[in-house]
This record gives sequence, structure tokens and C-alpha cells, in this order.
Amino acid sequence: MTAEIIYGSELAQEIRQELKEEVDSLREKSISPKLSVIIIGDDPASKSYVKGKQKASNKIGMDADLWEYESSISEQELLEKISELNNDRSVHGILVQLPLPDHIEEQKVIEAIVPEKDVDGFHPVSIGKMMTGQDTFLPCTPHGIIVMLERRGIKIEGKHAVVLGRSNLVGKPVGQLLLNRNATVTYCHSKTKNLKEITKQADILIVAIGKPSIITSDDIKEGAVVIDVGVNRVDGKLTGDVDFESVDQVASYLTPVPKGVGPMTITMLLHNTIEAAKKINQ
Ligand code: GUN
Repeated sequence: MTAEIIYGSELAQEIRQELKEEVDSLREKSISPKLSVIIIGDDPASKSYVKGKQKASNKIGMDADLWEYESSISEQELLEKISELNNDRSVHGILVQLPLPDHIEEQKVIEAIVPEKDVDGFHPVSIGKMMTGQDTFLPCTPHGIIVMLERRGIKIEGKHAVVLGRSNLVGKPVGQLLLNRNATVTYCHSKTKNLKEITKQADILIVAIGKPSIITSDDIKEGAVVIDVGVNRVDGKLTGDVDFESVDQVASYLTPVPKGVGPMTITMLLHNTIEAAKKINQ
């Protein structure tokens, strides 16, 4: 058996076309969805992510302004900028690229963004609503994973989903979204004992631990759906957390790295910003 590869890049194209049509129809009603992105410092990976977000926004006809600051910016200055964007009626979504320099408290910054413009879905209000199954902005990578599964017709209800990794950005929320769709969810992390015994039970395995090629065909059940969220650089080459060649022989579905989950993350950010624009103008 070789797995069916789920190309997030292709799905993202399809969804972005739909989003472009939504932007066009909003513009006809004189609503111009706009995302404001703040980046601090000059980390090349963060800069490249942010440019990708801006380019993808513009491609669907959405405005995206970029606020670039040196890493010496004070926490107070940053909070003031966020407050200004909170009060700017032309701005629908605000994103502060993480990580932040050590002298700035990340949680304080996340909580400074009004929940109505929290298109990252990181604000405690957004997280609380997600946990209780209310309508809210969902965090982009976890939401992108769910959309990938749904658009490929992969059933979630009743399945045993195993999540490897418990980060606030990916592991924890993706498990919650799977649970909201009636999966039975097990979280595994660095302290988990007998890891292989658990991963081998997974109907759906989400791998988000940041260790290159750590999951091999030995760790999974025949026919499992394997979603690779890893982004690792090995000898300058991008690789996931899953050993693609061996897992491809055993899984039923598998996402590649690159061209897998990554493009879906940006697509969900565009989706959230359009939803924010619709809500603010209701
Ligand atoms: N850094 C890495 N991923 C993300 C993300 O999804 N949002 C923000 N704001 N920062 C990130």
C-alpha cells in the first residue's frame, strides 16, 4: 500500500480562490478586509513567514500592512501600537509574529489584541470559546489540519486521534478541535511512556514535535492517516517530523513537508480576516 498524499498546497489554492470571490463581493459592499501584521527583529524565518502572509493576502485582493520594528522596541511601545490598531476601524485582523524578544512578555501582547481582531486565535477568549465549542477565530494551523481532513473526506467522528506534541500553537488546540468533532483524543509528549504502543493505536496521527523524521513506519498502524506538522531544516533542506519514505508504505493518507500543512496555515489566516471584516461590518 502506498499512501494518498494530501497536498495542502493544492487545497490551499482551491480555498484561496473561494476566499478571493468573498473579498470581491465584500468590496462591492465597500468593505475592504485588512490585516495588520507586526514583526519585531530580523529573524529570517519569521521575516519569510510574514512576507508569505502579506503576499497571500494581496493575491486574493486583501490589504495587508506590515509594521516592522527593531528588536529594541519596548513592550510599552508595542502595546501602544496594538492599541492604535485595535481602534483603527479600517483594520480587521491583527497578527504579531511570534516569537518575541525576551524583554517582551508574549502573553501580555497576545491579550492586548481585542478578541474581535484576534485572527491568530491565540487570545484566551478565543481559546475559551474554542474549548466550549462556540463560534470564534480558530488557530490557523490546527484549523488548517481539520479542513484538510474534511476536504479529503476523512471521517473524524469515533476515530482514535493521537496528537504528538502539546504546544499552545498546535498540539493542544488541534486535539481540542478533533475532540469537538467527536474523535477520541490521546495527547503524547516528551514524558509519555511507551510512545510507540500509543502511536500504533492511532487512526489519525498528528505529529508536531519538531524532531526530523522521528516517526517511521514502525510507529504506525496499517492504514493510519498521518499529518506531519514538523518544519525542520536538515542540511538546508526543509523536512518534517515524519520519515516520509517509510510511512508512505503503511499509511492511508500522508501530508508532505513542504507543501503540506504550511500553505493551509496561511489560508486559514486569510479566512479569519475575512470573517473578522464581515463581523465588524454587520
Ligand atoms: N510564529 C509561528 N507561527 C505563528 C503563527 O501562526 N502566528 C504568529 N503570530 N506567530 C507565529
